[in-house]
Amino acid sequence: MLNESIPFDPSQDLAALAASGALGGNVALFAQPRGADLMRRAAPLEQWCALRMRHGVWPYARTLEGPPEPLATVAGDGLPAARGINFASQDYLSLSSHPAVHEAALQALGECGPHSAGSAVLLGNTRHSGALERAVGELLHCAQVVLFPTGWGAAFGAITALVHAGDHIVIDQLAHASLRQGALAATRNVSVHRHLDCDHVRELLAGIRAVDRAGAIMVVTEGLFSMDADSPDLPLLQHLCREYGATLLVDVAHDLGAIGPGGAGVVGVQGMLGKIDIVLGAFSKTFASNGGFVACAQPSVRRQLQMFAGPHMFSNALSPIQAATVLASLRIATSAEGEGLRADLLRNAVELRALLADEGVRCIGGPSPIVPVWTGTEAATRIAGMLLSREQVFVNPVEFPGVPLGAGRLRLQLMAQHSPAQIRRAAQLVAAAVGRARTAPRPAPRPAPFHPAPESGRG
Ligand SMILES: Cc1ncc(COP(=O)(O)O)c(C=O)c1O
Repeated sequence: MLNESIPFDPSQDLAALAASGALGGNVALFAQPRGADLMRRAAPLEQWCALRMRHGVWPYARTLEGPPEPLATVAGDGLPAARGINFASQDYLSLSSHPAVHEAALQALGECGPHSAGSAVLLGNTRHSGALERAVGELLHCAQVVLFPTGWGAAFGAITALVHAGDHIVIDQLAHASLRQGALAATRNVSVHRHLDCDHVRELLAGIRAVDRAGAIMVVTEGLFSMDADSPDLPLLQHLCREYGATLLVDVAHDLGAIGPGGAGVVGVQGMLGKIDIVLGAFSKTFASNGGFVACAQPSVRRQLQMFAGPHMFSNALSPIQAATVLASLRIATSAEGEGLRADLLRNAVELRALLADEGVRCIGGPSPIVPVWTGTEAATRIAGMLLSREQVFVNPVEFPGVPLGAGRLRLQLMAQHSPAQIRRAAQLVAAAVGRARTAPRPAPRPAPFHPAPESGRG
């Protein structure tokens, strides 16, 4: 909304942009403003954002006009609404536009109306949410499933409901903000392990058990890391958890439905269906709606979540439309049609990565719906994102707090329905934008106005 009032000259050259100051600074500098007046002390952040908007390098809170399809109309970014190739939406199997999904949503609307009108613990459940719980349980080979209104709530709620102040958490350094913030809210005993490093996990578990045999330990990781497109060794992590009397929790927000045999995600790929202590996820990447879940084997854990996970207990349940939408999406994702959509998605990912590699562009991680293109500095990330936006290629330029400082990247999220021509055009333009950003003039330095935030949060 702010963008609408900002005059932005799309013809500005990169030297003028660098001199403007809009490429300097980072969000961390504004994380902990000082001063007694809460309503005024964020003003420097607003000024800095306005500067970035004036120079077309504020790629946030843009507006999608119409559905999140491969060809989409996007407004904001200091530019008028434009139609272009969309890699900034999360709809991996393109189920948001599937007629059967629309039909299910409309039927639920006709049958139940638009609103759950209560927490799941009160009267917020419908036959759609019950059927969804059973379907998620079948897919993951878990008897117990608890639904949440968001994936965020599932992650934060599961950790804070199960882990107490006297317990311990061992968490991957690149885990999503919902997991990290859940961990910090649950206990002060949080140990961060090097990304995907099972030796480090073993070392930390051994260290904890050497001094505390009574406290519980939760090991927290993701099936497919959302900014890095890589996966941990789940059998080894679960084995380590058994060895040290710990519990493994895996967030499969980005992989469930989108990859793996039958859509079973990384848990399925690694032969761990029904063998992970706790699996949680979000419906918002592949299943065409908001919402999340936690799945496990024990009824007592389900009960603990029902009674003590705040976002389940004290927030209204998924609406009937959302539950029916996710259920219809899940049925497609687990069908032969779903296998075909996953094949299309993977073909797009492999093709895009190969084309970018041919152009000398560095992508992080492996083939999956997420293609993170390394840009490094915040300045390079902003320039590359802006150049792509001018070419009507919409990606998410990610910098702190989505990723650590100096580890910027363009995150492209693929859909089954991206066409080969769209993938080829994107590869060309991404390579050109990243190349220009790399050689752009250095940004004018900006003084640090406030105290840096300690950590990134992942997006
Ligand atoms: C790993 C992970 N967990 C949880 C979430 C939160 O899911 P939602 O956006 O559906 O609330 C996300 C979303 O970005 C995520 O990437």
